[in-house]
Parts: sequence; structure tokens; C-alpha cells
Amino acid sequence: MSLNNVQPADGKLGILIVGNGAVATTFMTGVFMARKGLAKPVGAMTQYDKIRVGRGADKRYLKYGDIVPLASLDDLVFGCWDVYPQNAYQAAIYAEVLREKDIEPVREELEQIVPMPAAFDHNYAKRLNGDHIKPCHTRWEMVEAVREDIRRFKAEKGCARIVVLWAASTEIYVPVDESVHYHLADLEAAMHADDRQRIAPSMCYAYAALSEGAPFIMGAPNTTVDIPAMWELAEKTRMPIAGKDFKTGQTLVKSGFAPIIGSRCLGLNGWFSTNILGNRDGLVLDEPENFRTKEVSKLSTLETILRPDLQPDLYGHGNDEDTQYFHKVRINYYPPRNDNKEGWDNIDIFGWMGYPMQVKINFLCRDSILAAPLCLDLCLLSDLAARAGRYGIQRFLSFYLKSPMHDYTANESPVNNLYQQHTLLKNALREMGGYEADEELD
Ligand SMILES: NC(=O)c1ccc[n+]([C@@H]2O[C@H](COP(=O)([O-])OP(=O)(O)OC[C@H]3O[C@@H](n4cnc5c(N)ncnc54)[C@H](O)[C@@H]3O)[C@@H](O)[C@H]2O)c1
Repeated sequence: MSLNNVQPADGKLGILIVGNGAVATTFMTGVFMARKGLAKPVGAMTQYDKIRVGRGADKRYLKYGDIVPLASLDDLVFGCWDVYPQNAYQAAIYAEVLREKDIEPVREELEQIVPMPAAFDHNYAKRLNGDHIKPCHTRWEMVEAVREDIRRFKAEKGCARIVVLWAASTEIYVPVDESVHYHLADLEAAMHADDRQRIAPSMCYAYAALSEGAPFIMGAPNTTVDIPAMWELAEKTRMPIAGKDFKTGQTLVKSGFAPIIGSRCLGLNGWFSTNILGNRDGLVLDEPENFRTKEVSKLSTLETILRPDLQPDLYGHGNDEDTQYFHKVRINYYPPRNDNKEGWDNIDIFGWMGYPMQVKINFLCRDSILAAPLCLDLCLLSDLAARAGRYGIQRFLSFYLKSPMHDYTANESPVNNLYQQHTLLKNALREMGGYEADEELD
């Protein structure tokens, strides 16, 4: 018998999504359809995966919900914010991810989800021209308005708990500035002083969520909660945070394939990743300042898996200074493809005596189809973490993220290797379920 040390998942779980775009509407539609038995939540590990608990003769393979108390799909209630006023049904049709036959059966549920006005600053996403925006004069006013939204939603919908998920556009790159982003008092002062350069709107959502006792998940590459001041707030409010950037297609493949090269001790000269994408996300990322945020996130994946400092012969050649393999990532906005991204990876490896070889990967994926189950898993597992008394950065959720958060002020390394990430996830579930964490073979 396990000794479960987690509060039960009683009552409704409110999921408040920042953004009512392709990812958010695909996520919500899928949950509603699954609830009616009209679609299956494929790709959601919380709904399918079975992991081993116990060892030897005691071992059993259980679904997550049989190990720890998870909120059920029937208990989820959705709300959102967006700079466009269209309800979730209209937004789902606009996104053109799902066919109408997969949206119509839950039209009523979707139509009831009407976005609240956004906490938005045009300078952070210049390609967006929606005007469904809060009339706030300062960043602090944004925080207060979002807090009010969360409180109202929770009361009106009778939710026991709330999780806030960022599935809104990628903001422009905000470099971490020690004078503002390292201490909570400085962050708050900057919000009061309306420091628009260093306080992104996303930080106002995160601050509001944590202050209202809701975990916050950053699905874009924004640095929002990836700063010590937010870690301090998460500790103070004892709330979990997770981020950043959903690991959906190309980077999922990268974090799964790079360990093959690394564990086989093959060399790498270069890795070139490019893709074409035509949805609104692609449009926003077509702006160089927004792409920069994504680029930093996407580039970080290989760094801790194939390390030139540990294996200079294998990973210490290729770039201009010849100190590391060449790693390049490109995203090209190409409207005809809409959400159906096509990614190409060209990997220049070398083997015995340095002889070169190439691997080509051509992934024809669907961005939001891959992202939706991640949203579900991240929301359910963040809610679980909160009920288990876990707060601050949730490293066990690194599996789902391109650029997993870690305490860089303490020289902690992120875990990017997909298999190590999976072990972290499984062990956290075992521990929360009252079983022992272990590294046994499954
Ligand atoms: N789909 C994937 O595979 C994937 C992977 C990793 C990360 N992401 C990230 O997820 C996010 C959502 O992707 P998408 O395809 O749904 O994009 P989308 O453009 O369809 O939707 C984003 C929505 O956010 C809204 N928005 C922007 N700023 C806002 C603000 N401050 N407040 C409220 N709403 C705001 C926009 O109006 C838009 O409707 C993007 O940041 C994207 O980079 C997606």
C-alpha cells in the first residue's frame, strides 16, 4: 500500500488560459469532445501512460491517476483572456486546426468561453492589432485587474482551485536585469513605477496568478517566471511554477535524438533546424525581436546533452571559433501551411576516425495537435504539485518544456535529455504517490 501525501482533487479545477488562439482552442475543444466520448485525448500522458511503482514481486504498472489524485476531465472549467473578443468557438474556427465536424458537437460549451480583456502592450507583440484590452495605465494596474478577474472567475464558476496557463503569443525578448528581476521587492517597485521595458505583460499575469494562489505555467519561451524575483514570489505564496516553452515537435525530436548521438559517443559538427509555419504564432515570430525569444529557447536544448567541455573531441568542433558544434535554428512564416508545420533537421555527425555522416529528419506535424495534450498534462500536474505542497520551479515537468527552468543563480543545469526528464517525472509521481523514487529498469 502506498502512503499518499497529497490533498484530494475535490471540486472543480478552473483553468484560466492567457490567449484564446490555436493551442488554447484545440486544448479546450479536445477536452470537451473527450468528455462526451467523441474523441480520445491521445498524447496526454496523464490519461494514458502507465508507470511502474514498487519493485520485484511488488511491482505494478499504474496510470498516473491511480498513483496520485488527479483532477478528472469532468471537473475542468475553462476561461481565458485575449486581445481579440471572439469566443472560443469562433476562435477555434478561425484557427483552422480542427475540422468543423470536430468542433460543432461542443459548440455550445465553446461559445460560453468568452475572453476577458487582455493585459497587453502592443510593443510586446507588434503584429497583433486586437483592441480587447484592459484600460490599465500602469503595470501594477494590470496585476490588480488580472487578480480581480481570477477572483471573479473562481467565485462565479464555483472552482475549488485555479491554474493559470500562458498559451498566448511569444513576447519580445526581455533580457534578465539583476536590478529588477532578482528580488521580489525590486520587481514590485518596477511594476509600481510602470517600467514597461523590463516588466512584460506576462509578468503581470504570473504575479497575479501566484498571488491568488494559482500555479502558473509558461508555455511560450518568455522569461516571465524564469527570474529569481518570481521564484521568491512562488516560495512566498507556496505555489508551483513551470516553464518555459512547450516541447512539441522539432525540439521533442531533438531532445530524444541527441541522446542517441551522445550515448553512442558519435561526434557532432552541426545541427541545422528549420521549419515553415503559417499560423498566428508564426506571424508573431516573424518579428525579429519575438523570434529572438524563441531562438534562445530552442538553442538551449542541445547544450546540456552534448557537452563540448566534457567531450572536446566529439563536440568541440564546428562553429566559427571551432569550440563547439554549429547549432542553428530558423522559423519561417509561410501562410499556406497554417498550423501544419513542416520541420527539417540536418544533422552532421561523424564516426570512427572522424568519417562524416548525415541524418535528415523531416517532421510533418501539427503544432496545436501536439501542444494540446501538453497543456492538459501541465495543468493537471501543476495542480497536483500544489496539492502535494510543492512550490517554486517544478523540475519534474521539464519533460514538457523546451527550455526547462532551473536555478541558474546556483549554477544548476537544466535537464534536457528526454529520457532523464522522463525519469524525473516518473520519480516525482512515485514520491507524491507515497512510493519510493528509484532508477530501476522498467
Ligand atoms: N503549438 C506549438 O507547438 C507550440 C510550441 C511551443 C510554444 N508554443 C507557444 O504557444 C503560444 C500559443 O501558440 P498558438 O499557436 O496558440 O498562437 P496563436 O497566435 O494562435 O494564439 C495566441 C493568442 O494569444 C493572444 N495574446 C497575445 N498576447 C496576449 C496577452 N498579453 N494577453 C492575452 N492574450 C494575448 C493572441 O491574440 C492570440 O489569440 C505561442 O507563444 C507559441 O510560441 C506553441
